[in-house]
Amino acid sequence: MAKKLTSYTCTACGASYVRWQGKCDECGGWNTLSEEKAAVSGAPKGLSGKKGSRVSFVSLDTPLDEAPRLMTGIAEFDRALGGGLVPGSAILIGGDPGIGKSTILLQAMGKMAIKGEDCVYISGEEATAQIQMRANRLGLKGAPLKLGCETSLRDILTTLDEGKPPRVVVIDSIQTLFADHVESAPGTVSQVRVCAHELISFAKRKGTVVLLVGHVTKDGQIAGPRVLEHMVDTVLYFEGDRGHQFRILRAVKNRFGGTDEIGVFEMTGAGLNEVTNPSALFLADHNAREPGSAVFAGIEGSRPVLVEIQALVARSSAANPRRAVVGWDGGRLAMVLAVLDARAGLGLAGCDVYLNVAGGLKITEPAADLAVAAALISSLSQTPVPDETVVFGEISLSGDVRNVSQTEARLKESAKLGFSGALTPKVKKNPVKTIKQQTIARVGDLVAQFFPHGLP
Ligand code: TYD
Ligand code: MG
Repeated sequence: MAKKLTSYTCTACGASYVRWQGKCDECGGWNTLSEEKAAVSGAPKGLSGKKGSRVSFVSLDTPLDEAPRLMTGIAEFDRALGGGLVPGSAILIGGDPGIGKSTILLQAMGKMAIKGEDCVYISGEEATAQIQMRANRLGLKGAPLKLGCETSLRDILTTLDEGKPPRVVVIDSIQTLFADHVESAPGTVSQVRVCAHELISFAKRKGTVVLLVGHVTKDGQIAGPRVLEHMVDTVLYFEGDRGHQFRILRAVKNRFGGTDEIGVFEMTGAGLNEVTNPSALFLADHNAREPGSAVFAGIEGSRPVLVEIQALVARSSAANPRRAVVGWDGGRLAMVLAVLDARAGLGLAGCDVYLNVAGGLKITEPAADLAVAAALISSLSQTPVPDETVVFGEISLSGDVRNVSQTEARLKESAKLGFSGALTPKVKKNPVKTIKQQTIARVGDLVAQFFPHGLP
């Protein structure tokens, strides 16, 4: 007979223990164990004895009957998904509370329902009246969307299993679901794992797209076991800070398309609007005359995006000068500062340094190094970056500026937005005629731009 036991499961990695302890031995997380009731039926049995059935193999050239992808009708959402929803796939959407997860899903489902797709939206967090009110505000009044408020996994699966399976099901959120055969509270590791598993196998069985909303923990990861991210086909994160109206939907895992593809949205009174030209939006308040600001020609996924990088460098009398970064990696900033000190003799070690990527975008490309260096030196020298000029290039520890991918796409986007100059690593042939390209081979060349008469 199954024996009821209490076990302690790590909310970060899913490891389980018999006794509570402060630190998880598996992942090293502190205070991550939570108490769960688990049904344990003695030692696990071996496979010996009964024979299984044969697995059939196919070769790669077997023709496949691929169902066409389902477009949500929100182009930026489809782009982040790598070109629409794949039937039978499971997608997890994470993000801070209030960032707009429910809004975007309601908008997408509403639009698809209007186009005649069978869509189901199940909320475990809000009442139907609340969702209806929001739908009205989003201009989706009268959309034939099937709305439900339910948290019982059994009831949800029973309903979905009846008749023709729907095309798309949204579960908002996976942490509110409750499977009655698991004896722990909703939101715990075992509940989330079981509910997600059941819904994913429903998706695979019936060819329905299942979209799961996942809450995030205070350090920004999807709450519940990390295995949740392994179980689904696609993981999307909704980012942006609530002080800005921009929202960025980023794919961090995608079995059916590229990752790091982003969709850009703007939160308005009537829901999320797509932003088809993000560069123009990110540069809207850019003032080229200000020292300490440089425009970086970056690549997000498959598309070029121009963003402004702002820096403030000020002499400090503190023993440990302050370093603060928003939207970029702090370690990478330390590296650029060290290279500028060691290879160009700038003496930034005694300065407070603040760096900010305008618009709430998070940049991960190393190609931003040169733009960051330009913003820093510009602030230090109180000289603006040359007019209408974009900057990109990777800085190596030796002080060389390295080539980056997709130079042509970066320069073309810059030309499209009215830029006429570029500070770049050495390129073979300037692919864009309207841009005057200037080669920065070493960080010293960049410093010479801002201090033409040598360092003071
Ligand atoms: P919501 O989608 O409920 O966030 P999540 O599901 O990620 O927690 O978004 C809620 C926020 O969005 C809320 O703070 C108000 C704002 N909002 C608007 O500004 N305009 C709108 O039309 C809607 C629906 C929401
Ligand atoms: Mg919500």
